[in-house]
Amino acid sequence: MKGGLLLAAVLAATVALVLGCSTPEEGEIEIIFAAGNDPSGATDSLVVEYNASHPGVIVKFQPMPANTDTQHDNYVTILSARGTAIDLYSLDVIWTAEFAKAGWIAPLPDGLIDPGDFLEGPLASLTYEGVLYGVPWFTDAGVMYYRKDLLEEAGVPVPETWDEFRRACRQVALPRGMDGFVWQGARYEGLICDYLEFLWGLGGSIELDRIRTDPAAVESDIAAAIELALSFFDDGLSPESVLTYKEEDSRRLFTEGQALFHRNWPYAWSMAEGEESKVKGLVGIAPLMHADGEKSYSTIGGWNVAVSSYTEHPEEALEFLAFITSERALKLRAIEGGYLPTRNATYEDPDVLAANPHFGSFFEVFRNTRNRPSSPHYPRVSDTIQEHVHAALARETAPGDAAAAIVSELAEIADL
Ligand code: GLC
Repeated sequence: MKGGLLLAAVLAATVALVLGCSTPEEGEIEIIFAAGNDPSGATDSLVVEYNASHPGVIVKFQPMPANTDTQHDNYVTILSARGTAIDLYSLDVIWTAEFAKAGWIAPLPDGLIDPGDFLEGPLASLTYEGVLYGVPWFTDAGVMYYRKDLLEEAGVPVPETWDEFRRACRQVALPRGMDGFVWQGARYEGLICDYLEFLWGLGGSIELDRIRTDPAAVESDIAAAIELALSFFDDGLSPESVLTYKEEDSRRLFTEGQALFHRNWPYAWSMAEGEESKVKGLVGIAPLMHADGEKSYSTIGGWNVAVSSYTEHPEEALEFLAFITSERALKLRAIEGGYLPTRNATYEDPDVLAANPHFGSFFEVFRNTRNRPSSPHYPRVSDTIQEHVHAALARETAPGDAAAAIVSELAEIADL
């Protein structure tokens, strides 16, 4: 506890330091909004706009490291010490159960939003035991980016199954000395997202309830998905360095033109089309691949905004929450940053569609999505899968042993 408090104090000091010299003026209320860094600058402009029209309140955007695990650990340290350093948090969709159960985030007052305006999946991700804990901000789903130009030139159709995918890599990428497939294989949350997509596309599933009723079947699904991922390395499609890649590592390789296929979230589209990209205009988007006779599923990701239970300014925090998740804010972030909005209406906005003609291709992907297991003990669920899957991919454990260990540890967590 003492260590936690100390860490929280250090973090609070860091927040203060990063926010710099601009201490609020006499009588001014300061609201700190912590969220993943937004390289597009849209969030910064929204905050400037908000402050200009709200005398007496000064909102400061505290950009956090993009890595979800780091953000999670920072927030848990602050919140478990009842820290007041942050008033509003942007939360990964997988954290709601944990944060709500711990009492760290405040239920959303009725009437702040009309739930009917929002996409159902993101709203469901913010609901714990029937109570809504915030407002959906942007949504994510895993997609496969590919080099449209190279496939077309070789007359190779966009693959749908892993077998077709393998053939495409052999025919198009390997002879050019390119990587076939880059993805997120480091030991962190992103590995869970990619790995579950492999598992679902083989017809597998890993729900905690199924582990109770049919552990042997889950174990075999887990091992099969590890084998599939190992085959990408064995067949030379993915470099072993994938085991250290997070989103931006794989994205950089792809936009440098060094890989044929790239699994990532929608944000990578704007980067592929950006001025610095070497593959601008050459990229296509497809659903992930699946085994013969199965279907592909994308992991649902995304971020919500919730008010801290420990804020000293709940009213001002809620007012900013309404603004930063308003149609106007989602529109600007969609246009400037390619963030997929959580409001239905934003998808019909002509300016949004003009800036993001590819949103239509994402809908195709969004029709088949799945959530990671939901649990107030999600960090343990994730950590267990991360540890054993990563060890098996690094060839420190056999796939069958990793699968057995995951099932036995998840069965314990499921009973908590
Ligand atoms: C993205 C997703 C988030 C996921 C993370 C994994 O940020 O939106 O849900 O947990 O990637 O790296």
